Amino acid sequence: MIEVKSLTKKYDSVTPLRDVSFNVNEGDVIAVIGPSGTGKSTLIRCLNMLEKPTGGQIIFDGEEITARGYDIRKARMKMGMVFQSFNLFGHLTVIENLMLAPMDLLGKSKQEAYDKGMEYLRRVGMADKALSYPDELSGGQKQRVAIARTLCMDPEVILLDEPTSALDPTMVSEVQAVIRDLSKSGKTMMIVTHEMNFARAISNRVFYMDGEGIYEEGTPEEIFEHPKKENTRRFIRRLKVFEAVIDSRDYDFINFGAELDRYLLQNDVKSSEKNRIRLTIEETVQQILLPRYPDPDIHVAVEYSMQDDSTEITFTYGGEKFDIRDTDNELSLSMVENSSEKIEYSFDEGEERANEVKVWVKKTE
Ligand SMILES: Nc1ncnc2c1ncn2[C@@H]1O[C@H](COP(=O)(O)OP(=O)(O)O)[C@@H](O)[C@H]1O
Ligand SMILES: [Mg+2]
Repeated sequence: MIEVKSLTKKYDSVTPLRDVSFNVNEGDVIAVIGPSGTGKSTLIRCLNMLEKPTGGQIIFDGEEITARGYDIRKARMKMGMVFQSFNLFGHLTVIENLMLAPMDLLGKSKQEAYDKGMEYLRRVGMADKALSYPDELSGGQKQRVAIARTLCMDPEVILLDEPTSALDPTMVSEVQAVIRDLSKSGKTMMIVTHEMNFARAISNRVFYMDGEGIYEEGTPEEIFEHPKKENTRRFIRRLKVFEAVIDSRDYDFINFGAELDRYLLQNDVKSSEKNRIRLTIEETVQQILLPRYPDPDIHVAVEYSMQDDSTEITFTYGGEKFDIRDTDNELSLSMVENSSEKIEYSFDEGEERANEVKVWVKKTE
């Protein structure tokens, strides 16, 4: 369906894509993953010529869309694009937003455009908001509308660039659900995402991008379970780290909790595990460590490995030698112990924060 041959994109100071070649087959759902700045957006934007490639060819349905003189509007009609930001027209209602392009570009009648618009709104669960204005919708709802709008053009392929990354964490799953539904329907899609479990669940192919192009390609199973190359392995295995330093008794724990929630959600941590993580941190820091250290210097790091779904929490803190298991707050300690598989304590006098407690959080069965 799409053939990409030796695609190159150079900017003045970087070359995110060098000699990139691949095919997209009908029905493919390709997840594009990789560290930021490795050209994922550039790749997707080159595909529909939002960025003009510096070299190479893109052939779409047998036509070279990179050829000089080719009318790119023709290809764009068959290639839907979903962005991080929803780009809905604020002065139009939801259904009007959906009717616009089919009437203007496909010459659909008002009735046809309306019927189709309502059909897709129903599909994304937004039919009851047809007459609302974008401002009246949450971010997740806007993105669902934006996806429905794309579907109204009956595109052959849909390109999505981090469609959930601008959303409030509570809204990620409703948008993911809509995309998951689409991926099952046989739509050809290419989606850039940093949500690995999601990428894995919806795709049949995964492109790991690094070093000027597609560094490794494989099935989700290959990329996530048995990556062959070093960088892929490191990226997949890489423990995602959430960190905070608690340096005052007046520390803003409310904000800390919110940030932690965001991190856990982004990494698709299961909710029972989330509760154990939260509880372990709250009890350890607020109930056990803070009463002990009037002038706290506590570093908390949460590391989540998506490969084996395990979470490690490391507390390092300055001050006198103290193992949290020697606390006289038995209730808090038992809560921490019940949430964990293992707890280790070490003391290293050479370190500024000499105490270190590592907690391996119990996994959800
Ligand atoms: N319009 C631009 N001008 C110059 N450099 C750009 C432009 N767009 C992207 N880049 C650079 O190209 C590289 C790849 O960017 P991008 O495709 O956005 O990465 P990703 O989506 O993987 O995070 C980055 O180094 C970025 O700074
Ligand atoms: Mg990007």
